[in-house]
Amino acid sequence: MDVFAHLAYLVAAVLFILGLKLLSSPKTAQRGNFLGALGMLLAVLVTLTNKEILDFSYIIAGLVIGGTIGAVIAKKVQMTAMPQMVGMLNGFGGGASALVAYAEYLRISTGTTATTIDSLIALVLTLLVGSVTFTGSMIAFAKLKGIMRGAPVLYFFQKQINALMLLAVLVLGVIFIVDPTQSYPLLTIVGISLVLGVTSVIPIGGADMPVVISLLNSYSGIAAAATGFVLSNNVLIVSGTLVGSAGLILTNIMCKAMNRSLGNVLFAGVGTDYEASVDASVEQRTVIRYTPEDASFMLENAQSVIIVPGYGLAVAQAQHILHDLAAILMTNGTTVRYAIHPVAGRMPGHMNVLLAEANVPYDLLFEMDQINDDFQNTDVALIIGANDVVNPAARYKKDSPLYGMPILNVDYAKTAMVCKRSLNPGFAGEDNELFYEKKTMMVFGDAKATVTNLVQLLKK
Ligand code: TAP
Repeated sequence: MDVFAHLAYLVAAVLFILGLKLLSSPKTAQRGNFLGALGMLLAVLVTLTNKEILDFSYIIAGLVIGGTIGAVIAKKVQMTAMPQMVGMLNGFGGGASALVAYAEYLRISTGTTATTIDSLIALVLTLLVGSVTFTGSMIAFAKLKGIMRGAPVLYFFQKQINALMLLAVLVLGVIFIVDPTQSYPLLTIVGISLVLGVTSVIPIGGADMPVVISLLNSYSGIAAAATGFVLSNNVLIVSGTLVGSAGLILTNIMCKAMNRSLGNVLFAGVGTDYEASVDASVEQRTVIRYTPEDASFMLENAQSVIIVPGYGLAVAQAQHILHDLAAILMTNGTTVRYAIHPVAGRMPGHMNVLLAEANVPYDLLFEMDQINDDFQNTDVALIIGANDVVNPAARYKKDSPLYGMPILNVDYAKTAMVCKRSLNPGFAGEDNELFYEKKTMMVFGDAKATVTNLVQLLKK
């Protein structure tokens, strides 16, 4: 590879890093995305024009087939189904790394290329991490899509069996590195790793899938970086490492948001049989149904309102009309702010994206830590399509899948106004006793219809 290509890879790596930096703020995110894409275009062009690659027919066929499938899926996918799509694409990333590593093995096994011990170690690692990422992501996809039951699948000696499989992979790896002419250790490594991907994700409950997806995203980056070592390709090492570390940071942020350790998410089997643990005492209680007229009267007289958006806002696509409601309230002299829980919705930053789409000014959005102490001085906490992130069971109910997750303190506000269609539980399947409290106003209905109604009433 000539000096020009190395320099171009360096520029691409700088563009990736700048792109990531700019992605950290909504104001600069679009520019960041553009810079990252530009870096990737540069890296791809330089790699394709590299003298070592002779046959373009497979590359073009792959681009056309993969590009078409990707474009169709991306166009069709609902915003609310984005996490499972990201999960599936992570899996393909890991699978692709494993395939590239195996292809490289086939090339070196002909004996025409010299190999070093470090590239053999990288090859084994790529096959392990890439294969685990592939099947693990498919399980995460199936759980989120509802093809598989979300509850953890647990059996005896699960952790020990997983540890044994990992040990077997390491032993086989050493056997391969000592004698790379044998192909059976590599094929067995792939087989065991594919099984390990399944067995390490099935014990994790559906409610923890976002964390798993983020972790698998990190794995796919690590697999790509390891492939970079196999192929001696610097830009792959840099970009893989960036994906790996960004995924780990996001995993850490989400674990912190739920007040859980990564070990607890991966091994505690949280969410077992929660379907069966619905609290009978809660079920027998009654709730008071309020009309939009009651709600508009309350809002009209409120000095301060904190809006808490959740997954139902995304389902109803009520973000634009919610913005109109906030504008009316502010014109009326009410202080309006939005409280964003880190795992509200179905993907990291879901609510931020949704509200940005409706042009809600960023300075009205507050993270949980910034705003949680203000609920007690607030007249109305307006909860639109949120459930788990305001469920008090997270504070005290030890057998709940939500236990330990910090929640938005809406029950400390003078009134908690909940807009949703029914008393159905949220993602974690846990009943919400907030709905039965005296200070709670339940306004039943689709979020868009209810908020539209409120806007019309307030305009009058
Ligand atoms: P959820 O707890 O899932 O509750 C959403 C509520 O929205 C439901 O109870 C539903 O009640 C209501 N809803 C649905 N469609 C509606 C509509 N058209 N109009 C009005 N309401 C509607 O949401 P949340 O509070 O945002 O919590 C998120 C949950 O998802 C957490 O458990 C989190 O761990 C998990 N999760 C998060 C992520 C990330 S990273 N954000 C990813 C995957 C999973 P009705 O059916 O009664 O209307």
